[in-house]
Order: sequence, then structure tokens, then C-alpha cells
Amino acid sequence: MSNFWSIYIIAIVVINIAGCAALLFFTRKKKESSTQGKTTGHVYDGIEEYDNPLPRWWLWMFYITIIFSVIYLVLYPGLGKFQGVLGWSQVNQYNEEVAKADEQFMPMYEKYAAMSVEELQNKPEALDMGQSIFANTCFGCHGADGRGALGFPDLTDNDWLYGGTPEQIKKSIVDGRRGLMPAWEATLGEQGVSEVIHYVLSKNNAERSFREELVEAGETKYNQFCAACHGKDLTGNVALGAANLADTVWLHGGSISMIKNTVANGIQANMPAHKDILGEEKIHLVTAYVYSLSRDEQVQALEDGGQK
Ligand code: HEC
Ligand code: HEC
Repeated sequence: MSNFWSIYIIAIVVINIAGCAALLFFTRKKKESSTQGKTTGHVYDGIEEYDNPLPRWWLWMFYITIIFSVIYLVLYPGLGKFQGVLGWSQVNQYNEEVAKADEQFMPMYEKYAAMSVEELQNKPEALDMGQSIFANTCFGCHGADGRGALGFPDLTDNDWLYGGTPEQIKKSIVDGRRGLMPAWEATLGEQGVSEVIHYVLSKNNAERSFREELVEAGETKYNQFCAACHGKDLTGNVALGAANLADTVWLHGGSISMIKNTVANGIQANMPAHKDILGEEKIHLVTAYVYSLSRDEQVQALEDGGQK
């Protein structure tokens, strides 16, 4: 807030309170006996308006309200930029409450921090704590159940941009991730983008048939421009966060027009770093929880002979 607006607001508030006080002061001075029983002369539908002084109890309520507002504005923020002598703020109050809760839970956090993410899979209380941290911190982007949305990865499947081991998941949370995919429209042109997508989809969805010459032209371009990040076999690269293009999971939309849009315009995705927001102990618990979400699928995959 600029100084001008701050002073403007302070002036309005002070003038209003002073105005109320003045009004009250002058009404009070009116001699009680002088007007008692007289009418103001207004008559409406046979109802006359008396000019009696305001009742005492009502006046006192008014005084108390004014005194309260003055005390309040001295103690708490309300007058422009003035923060109030108590220094209270919503943020401070929130931080104090979080600090109190942390102090209470810290022994538990520390106990679980000493165990590995795999060990925590058999500790339901630890996973519950991880879940409540997730619900507070992550759900806005990944959904309450971790299933994500367009552009926000599903954390419950076994498809990972950056890898699904406990270490890789933890690194995603601690340092955050930046998914950068260049825009290709300028380099390849509309025709080139279309060809390369034909090639990708021909590999991705073998049941559909595509025009042979488009697929061939696309293959050359894919190897030249895309393979460095997405791999010759299209399976992606967890070190770069380059998506797997050989599966049916499309983070940015799987319709042909959406894929075209992705390739033509590129992607800039951002998973924020949480090391300063949550701290090591809580990150450990939320990692265990996220790991548990996809574990059923991972176990299933192992039983199926290691195939995804
Ligand atoms: C510099 C590395 C790089 C190159 C080169 C690259 N990509 Fe990507 N691509 C990425 C990354 C990283 C992502 C994941 C973005 C994210 O974080 O969501 C991605 C995502 C995609 C997606 C979205 C996948 C999904 O699940 O929605 C498509 C489609 C895609 N790339 C196609 C291509 C094609 C086609 C080319 C070649 C013309 C190409 N990419 C070249 C890095 C690259
Ligand atoms: C502001 C939105 C936002 C918040 C909050 C957020 N994330 Fe993310 N997260 C993302 C985005 C976007 C990506 C994908 C990044 C990319 O495409 O490169 C991502 C990626 C991830 C990944 C990597 C997924 C993969 O496929 O490798 C993990 C793990 C993850 N988030 C966990 C969490 C956890 C746990 C929290 C809470 C502590 C959290 N995220 C909070 C937006 C968010």
C-alpha cells in the first residue's frame, strides 16, 4: 500500500470515529427536560414523532462501541499501514500455531525420520501423518487423492517423469522440478509437427493406421530433434524429466489436437521446492505416503514379471 492510500484510509477512519463521538456529544447536551414530551411536528398516518432524548442505555452502548474501536485500532492492524502495537497478523498467528503443532509432533517426526521409506510402508500411523501433510500442502496441485490433473502428474500410477524410487520422489519434493520442453512450431513448421506426431502415435498406438509417408518423414525428424531427450525408443529420460511417449499416459492431454499443441508450443512446468516449506522430517513422511500410493501397482508389476 502506498503512503497516500495509507493516510487516506487513516483520515477516513479517524474522521468517522470523531464524527460519531461529536454527534453523540451534542445530542447528549440537549437538556432532557426541555424537549421531554414534545413532538417534532412530524405526523405520519396518525403516528407522531416525539423529540425525546436518546435513552441512556443506548447512549452508553454507543460510547462503549467508540471506546472499543479506538482501543482495537491501537492494538491491532486497521489504520492504513499501522500494524498495531501488538504486532498481530494472520501470518504470525498461523506460524505460531504451526510451530506449536510441530513442537508437539516433533518427537514422532524424528522417530520416523530415522526409519527408511520402505520400513514406513508398514507403519500406518506414519502414512496417516504423511497423508495429512499431503492434504495440507500438495492437494491444491495434485488433488486430494494424488491423482493430479492436466499438467499436474498423477502420483498414484506407476508412470514417473523423474523416477519413482523413494530417493527420486524425495528429490522431486525437496528441490522441486522444472519440466522444460522446447516449442517446435518455429523449427519444424506445422507440417513437421504433424509428421513427428504421426510417427510418435504410430509407435504409441500400433492398432491405429497412419499414412506411411507421414510416419517416415516423422521418424527422421524425431531422431534428429526429439530422440536426444525422449530416447530412440520413445521411453523418455528420468534424468531430464522427459516424458515417456511410448505409453498411454499423457500429462498434457492425449487427444491429437492437445499433443499438437504441446509439441508446437512446448511446456514449462514447475513443481515448487518444498525443503524450506516443510523441512526434512515432514518431507520424509510425505515421501513415504506418496511412495505408498503407487506401491500396489509396483508390486503388481513385479508379479507380472517386471513389465510396466
Ligand atoms: C530438451 C529436451 C526435449 C526435447 C528435445 C523434446 N522434448 Fe518433448 N518433453 C521434454 C520434457 C522435459 C517433457 C516433460 C514436460 C513436463 O515436465 O511435463 C516433454 C514432454 C513432451 C510431450 C508431452 C507428453 C505428455 O505426457 O503429455 C510430448 C508429446 C513431447 N514432449 C513430444 C516431443 C517431440 C515430438 C519432440 C521433438 C520434436 C520433443 N518432445 C523434443 C523434453 C524434450
Ligand atoms: C504449485 C503446484 C504444486 C504443488 C503445491 C506441488 N506440486 Fe508436485 N508437481 C507439480 C507439477 C506441475 C509437477 C510436474 C512437473 C513437471 O511436469 O516437470 C509436479 C511433480 C511432482 C512429482 C514428480 C512426479 C513424477 O512423475 O516424477 C512428485 C513426486 C511431486 N510433484 C510430489 C509433490 C508433493 C509430495 C507435494 C506436496 C509436498 C507437491 N508435489 C506439491 C506441481 C505441484
